[in-house]
Amino acid sequence: MGYRDVYQRWQDDPEAYWLDQARAIDWDVAPSKALNDTRAPLYEWFSDAMGNTCYNCVDRHVKAGRGDQNAIIYDSPITGTKSHTTFSQLQEQTARLAGALAARGVVKGDRVIIYMPMVPEALVAMLACTRIGAIHSVVFGGFAAHELATRINDATPKAIIAASCGIEPGRVVEYKPLLDGAINEAVHKPEFCVVLQRDQCRADMVEGRDFDWHEMQQGVEPADCVSVAGNHPAYILYTSGTTGQPKGVVRPTAGHMVALNWTMKNIYNVVPGDVFWAASDVGWVVGHSYICYAPLLAGNTTVVFEGKPIGTPDAGTFWRVISEHKVKSFFTAPTAFRAIKREDPTGAFLKEYDLSCLKYLFLAGERADPDTVNWAADLLGVPVIDHWWQTETGYTIVGNPAGIELLPLKPGSPTVPMPGYDVHILDEAGHAVPNGTLGAIAIKLPLPPGTLPTLWNAEERFQKSYLAHFPGYYETGDAGMIDDDGYLYIMARTDDVINVAGHRLSTGGMEEVLAGHPDVAECAVIGVADPLKGQLPMGFVCLSKGVEKPHDQIEKECIQRVRDQIGPVAAFRLIKVVDRLPKTRSGKILRATMAKIADGETFKMPATIDDPAVLDEIAVALKTLGYPGAH
Ligand code: COA
Ligand code: AMP
Repeated sequence: MGYRDVYQRWQDDPEAYWLDQARAIDWDVAPSKALNDTRAPLYEWFSDAMGNTCYNCVDRHVKAGRGDQNAIIYDSPITGTKSHTTFSQLQEQTARLAGALAARGVVKGDRVIIYMPMVPEALVAMLACTRIGAIHSVVFGGFAAHELATRINDATPKAIIAASCGIEPGRVVEYKPLLDGAINEAVHKPEFCVVLQRDQCRADMVEGRDFDWHEMQQGVEPADCVSVAGNHPAYILYTSGTTGQPKGVVRPTAGHMVALNWTMKNIYNVVPGDVFWAASDVGWVVGHSYICYAPLLAGNTTVVFEGKPIGTPDAGTFWRVISEHKVKSFFTAPTAFRAIKREDPTGAFLKEYDLSCLKYLFLAGERADPDTVNWAADLLGVPVIDHWWQTETGYTIVGNPAGIELLPLKPGSPTVPMPGYDVHILDEAGHAVPNGTLGAIAIKLPLPPGTLPTLWNAEERFQKSYLAHFPGYYETGDAGMIDDDGYLYIMARTDDVINVAGHRLSTGGMEEVLAGHPDVAECAVIGVADPLKGQLPMGFVCLSKGVEKPHDQIEKECIQRVRDQIGPVAAFRLIKVVDRLPKTRSGKILRATMAKIADGETFKMPATIDDPAVLDEIAVALKTLGYPGAH
C-alpha cells in the first residue's frame, strides 16, 4: 500500500484505523472503542483501555527475548564518556528508581518534575515515573530558576528529580542552585528531591529534603508496572505560548503509545533492533517522543547524545556518532546543520567516517531552508526529510512517510499530511483558501490519538488558544499554504511565538521580563531573522520619564534580566532603548511591521498607524544593531 491508500484507509474509517494500530501495543485491557466524543469538541482516545507505558517501552521487550539488546547508547563527547544500557538493565534500573519513589509516597497521578541534562538517567527517571503512573514534567536545563518555579507552581509536584549539573562547552552549569532558587521562589514546595551527583560538580544537599539518587535506591523493593487508564496523563510538557505563563501540554497514555509506535516504521522506517538517534534534548518534545518513548516502544536502540553539533570537539561529531553506533535514521534540527555547514562547508570531516549505515536524515523543529536541505542531501547522499509538528501533537502532522513510501521531496516543504491529520488553510473568517494562497493552518477535529486532549489545569485556556478561533478545527498557530500536489509549506507563526535554534520561545514572555525592569515604561520584543539560529529575539524599550541612567547600562541590565529569568537558551542579546514604539491609533504595537523592517523585507505602511515617523526612528535603532543589511 502506498501513501495515498493508507491515508484513504484512515479517512474512510478513522476509528477502525486507530483500533487496528492499537493492536501493536500490549494492553492489560485492550480498548473496546477508539474515540470518545461525548465532550466534543474535547476528545479522548482509547479511554477504556488499561496499560502501562514503561511496560511497553521496556518490560515487554525483555519478555520477548530482547533483554540483551541495547536500549540506550549514551555518547557524551563533552565528558568523554560512553555507555550502553540493555533492555534488561533498563528494566532493572527503572523498577528500582520507581520503587524508591514509591517508597517515599509517590503514587499514581502524583506529579514529578525532572530537571536533568542529557544523561541516560533522565530516561530512567521518565520511565520510572510512568512505571508507577506518576506524571512527569521535564524542564529543559537551559531555563532559569524562575521558569522552573513557574512550572513547579503549575504542576505542584510531589518530588523533583535533578542532576547536580549540566555541561555546556566551556562551563559547568550547576543545576542545584537553580533548583534551590526555584523551590524558594515557588509557592508550592515539593516533599522531596532526588539528586544525581555527577563527577563534574557535587551538589550541596538540603538535609531531610534532598536524597542521593543511588543511596535512596539501596535496599528498596523494585516496583512493578501500574496499570493506568488510556486517558491517564503520561506526562505534562510545558511549552511557550503568547504570555510568560507556559502551556502545560498533557500527553494521554494510550494514544501516545499507539501513535508513537506507528511512526517508527511508517515515518522513520526503522524496525526493532535498528539504531535511531534524535539529537535534541529531553527537555523538548522531540526528546520526549524520539529520544525516549517512540524508539523504546518500537524496540529500537536510542542514542542519548550529550554534546553539540560543533565544538564537541569539532564539526565531525555527528558523523562519528552515526558511524560508531550504526545509526539508521537520524533526526535533528536544521540549525544544527547550519552550524556544521558554517564550520565545515565542504564537509571535510565526513571523509573520516563510514556512514553507509545511515539511510535517512529527518529535520524538524523550525523551517528547513532549502539551502540547508540541499547541502545536507549533497553531502550525505541520503534523503533529507523535513517534517512539521508541535509539542501539542507530539509527532508528525505533515511529513514524508519513508516506511510506507518515500514521496518526491520538494525542499521547503515538509510534504503531506499523515493519517490522522486533515489539514486546511483558512482565511481570517475561517473559509478555505485556494491552493497557493497563504492562510492559517488548521486541523479538522478530532485530532488523532496522542495529541493533547487539554492543557494541565487550564481547560478554558485550551479551548481559547486552540479551538475558539476556527470552530470545528484545531488552530496550529502556524501560517502556510498548500500547493496543487497537496504539499504543505510552513511560512510563519501567527502568534508571538518565535523559534531560536529550534527552541520555542515566547516574545510575550520576554516582554513581561523587560517590563519588570524599574526604568522601563513599555517595550516590544520581536523575532528577527538569523542565519544560524533561524530567529533571534530583539527588544525595544522606552524608559520612564526622568530616568537618567545611561542607555547602554539599562540595555545590559535588560539582557541580564532575560538571562536570569528565562534562561541562556533565549539568546537575548539584541536590545535598544528608543523614545517611542510604533503603534496603531488604538495603541497596538506594530511588532510585525518592525520585524519586516529588521529583516529588510518590503512592507505596507499600516493604514491604522498613528505616526509613521516612529518607523524611521526604529529603522535608525535597527541600523545600530546591525539590522537590516547584516544579512
Ligand atoms: N543547559 C544550560 N544551558 C544551556 C543548555 C542546557 N541544556 N542548552 C543551551 N544552553 C545555553 C548555552 O550554553 C548558551 O549559553 P551562552 O549564552 O552562555 O553561550 C545558550 O543557552 C544558547 O545555547 P544554544 O542554543 O545551544 O546556542 P549556541 O550558540 O551555544 O549553539 C547551536 C548554537 C546551533 C550549535 C545550538 O543551538 C544547537 O546545537 N542547536 C540544535 C538545537 C536542537 O537540537 N534543538 C532541539 C529541537 S529539535
Ligand atoms: P515545538 O512545539 O517546540 O516543537 O515548536 C513547534 C513549532 O515549531 C511549530 O508550530 C512551527 O512553528 C515550528 N516548526 C516545527 N517543525 C517545523 C518545520 N518542519 N517547518 C517549519 N516550522 C516548524
